[in-house]
Amino acid sequence: MKNVYITTAIPYVNGNPHIGHVEDYLLADISARYAKLNGASVRFQVGTDEHGNKIEQKAKSLNRDVQEYVDENAENFKTFISKLGVEYTDFIRTTDADHMKRVQEIWKNLKDHIYLNKYEGWYCTGCERFITDKECEENGGVCPDHQANYDRLEESNYYLRIADFKDEIRAKIESDEMKILPESRKKQVLKLLEDTPDVSISRPKTHLTWGVPVPGDDSQVMYVWMDALSNYITVLGYPDAKDFDDFWPASVQIVGKDILRFHAIIWPSILLGLGLPLPKVLLSHGFILANGQKMSKSIGNVVDPIEVLERHGLDATRYYFSRHIDTFDDSDFTWEKFDNAYNNELANDFGNLVQRLAAMSKKNEVKGQEAFEPIYDGEYKNFMDNYEYTKAMDYVWSKVQDVNKHIEETKPWMVAKEDPATAKKLLEDLDRELLQVNYLLKPFLPDATSKVEDIFVTSDIIEPGTPLFPKN
Ligand code: MSP
Repeated sequence: MKNVYITTAIPYVNGNPHIGHVEDYLLADISARYAKLNGASVRFQVGTDEHGNKIEQKAKSLNRDVQEYVDENAENFKTFISKLGVEYTDFIRTTDADHMKRVQEIWKNLKDHIYLNKYEGWYCTGCERFITDKECEENGGVCPDHQANYDRLEESNYYLRIADFKDEIRAKIESDEMKILPESRKKQVLKLLEDTPDVSISRPKTHLTWGVPVPGDDSQVMYVWMDALSNYITVLGYPDAKDFDDFWPASVQIVGKDILRFHAIIWPSILLGLGLPLPKVLLSHGFILANGQKMSKSIGNVVDPIEVLERHGLDATRYYFSRHIDTFDDSDFTWEKFDNAYNNELANDFGNLVQRLAAMSKKNEVKGQEAFEPIYDGEYKNFMDNYEYTKAMDYVWSKVQDVNKHIEETKPWMVAKEDPATAKKLLEDLDRELLQVNYLLKPFLPDATSKVEDIFVTSDIIEPGTPLFPKN
């Protein structure tokens, strides 16, 4: 059996989930379900990023105990991920004692590539990122994502010598040994790699206490990204667990475009420093916008994914985000577009089709498809194998429309009046055609597709008693 390992970025827990967070989990879950349908054994990590100044400051501003605050928010993420129907196998929190112990092992194993130096430069707490002088100047000293001034830092830090790995990383990206998707972002990374300096991977305790202590130096705490990136291997039990050997390197790591540089440059440096192979695919998705704008608390346009899930249910949410939010480009969410997709496409094109075929089949005493065997067609497989999920969905939807068209063309309800045997045969073919399309939809719409199987893959077709797309 083939082993597949899928990872998602772990969100900061300084607030509740928003719809931007749907993308990582949904793409990963589609990929996991598709792999399982193809017989793979899947490990699928999700989790939460709980250290760093940003989180500590937020908890303190609310007069909360930091651990208690992150416990509560991690739970909110867990609830949200489950409501989205995500079949993860591992939930890791960076405050887990086991993770923290393993990150310290990682640090020790990297020591030949770590050196102590003085950092004098800029930092953005919102991004939890060191900013180069060039970038600071280009942005006029203000972070465009957080609308906050960069902080000037002057401190002693440990550095990871990125210079040791640049050539190897470049070669692996260029040759697609670590394939960056989409191609346009692969080019950006190669450009960025040209002037990436060594990175600071610790902060003095005077500036950061909420983090993993640096082994052998009481005065320093690990930089949050050092701790966070390591989660992808600590969750498998690096360095000593057998699962690690079985599942690393990751088949695909899924992250948003804003954090691609960490995953395409710093993370590979850590892996190469540990003598480990790089992930096979690094998929960087686009951003979800609300009414064409970036979501932000100050604009007040942040959309709550739980509200979305409650409006039209799980499959409707997964449908909208896989078909109408482009896998790689930025796309817009509006309630109106969501309602239209639900009413006109899901309920109309697919829900009615199922209802109609089940009713006609039942009426004409058509047997169920007990021995149904699905097949993949090449075009679908090609999209799925290349993580082109929006294109795969468009393609499958054209097949849904084809079944609707075939019903209209063959008119089994008319044929039944004159020639019941032929009508029966027509309906059997249509039922099989529907089941075939339904199979292709399985990674996207888990609940509805399994209901369709319950209706048609049986000895006697069962007319659906409940709606195919209920609200949660
Ligand atoms: N904690 C880091 C990730 C560490 S991974 C080792 C982080 N957290 S985050 O909460 O800011 O973002 C988590 C994920 O959500 C990232 O993949 C990010 O790109 C994604 N998104 C956050 N807002 C988004 C949208 N509006 N749209 C799509 N994805 C977005 O970064």
